[in-house]
Amino acid sequence: MTESSDKETLPNILSIGAAVPEGVVTNEELEKTLDTSDEWITSRTGIKRRHVLKEEEKPSSLGVEASREAIDKSPVDPEEIDLVVVATNVSDMPIPGSSPFIVKELGLSRDIPFFDLKAGCSGFLYAVDVAANMIGGKGYAEILVIGLEALSRVVNWDDRSTCVLFGDGAGAAVISKRGNRGRILSTSIYGDPSKANLIKVEGGGTRLPPAKGSEEDERYYIRMEGKGVFKSAVNMMKRSSLHVLEDAGLDLSDVDWIVPHQANIRIIKQLASSLGVGMDRVVVNVDEYANTSTATIPIAFKEGIEEGSIESGDVVLLTAFGAGAAYGATLLEW
Ligand code: COA
Repeated sequence: MTESSDKETLPNILSIGAAVPEGVVTNEELEKTLDTSDEWITSRTGIKRRHVLKEEEKPSSLGVEASREAIDKSPVDPEEIDLVVVATNVSDMPIPGSSPFIVKELGLSRDIPFFDLKAGCSGFLYAVDVAANMIGGKGYAEILVIGLEALSRVVNWDDRSTCVLFGDGAGAAVISKRGNRGRILSTSIYGDPSKANLIKVEGGGTRLPPAKGSEEDERYYIRMEGKGVFKSAVNMMKRSSLHVLEDAGLDLSDVDWIVPHQANIRIIKQLASSLGVGMDRVVVNVDEYANTSTATIPIAFKEGIEEGSIESGDVVLLTAFGAGAAYGATLLEW
């Protein structure tokens, strides 16, 4: 577990951008190819649609679009960005990942460092934590953090137990000490490796190299123990949420909005109930985008702002869980 509790040094999340593919796959469309129903998917998950990249579209382009929006909305010029962190579980290429392609397409300064960060669906909050500490400790000034995911590319579209759950998308944030918006109050990240096998794509790494794979081999697709994930998810998000609140010296009555990882409406409702928070203070858009992994939080955060729900000065709690099992939370004042 790491935590940032030196409030004097914590920077701001200055801006948020997000992008999803135009292509949409509805539950009704899935009914035509799978033994499933809109009723089953909606009642078990709250998902109605998911945005999915077309075969010819590049995942990193979503990261570029979300980043351009975040940079445009911030007072930071592109050439001032001095580090780029891309949270993603399935990079554009295993080597060299997604970050170099995004940095190149954005036309950022040639010599800045960049890297991919893999922490399941909690990747965006891990990247925020890393950025907050890099600014505090390492001397970086303006960090671009991206959550980018195209799980449609590793989903078995014949497996009804997984393919209905995921969508593609990206979100981005500019993090800096500049400005007076989005002050991070606390951030913490955790992991529970005893749950490392709950969600996985086994193939494509060094244990099962990509070249050995075949389309029929289910180990090359995302698989999970749905019930096991469900049970742990609420506890993980609750624990990290309470930790950042305690660290910031606040309690749940100070929180205006919770923006949780969007995996399943039932998980979100159980989290709200276990924290004693009404669903009228929780941002939900899992119905429209399904689980976009590292991108759910920035996409939902941006929508909450644009809908007029999250207003300037609101205290916002972000919390996520995912493969690994990596989890975490960030508390900020928008
Ligand atoms: N359509 C119809 N039936 C389906 C189905 C689908 N899309 N997917 C699975 N089923 C079937 C299963 O085959 C199983 O059938 P069986 O009982 O005959 O074996 C049955 O539904 C399981 O139903 P149920 O016990 O009601 O499922 P559930 O309440 O555990 O819900 C999940 C399943 C996957 C929706 C739920 O466990 C979940 O959301 N888990 C968390 C997943 C997650 O968030 N992952 C990402 C984390 S970052």
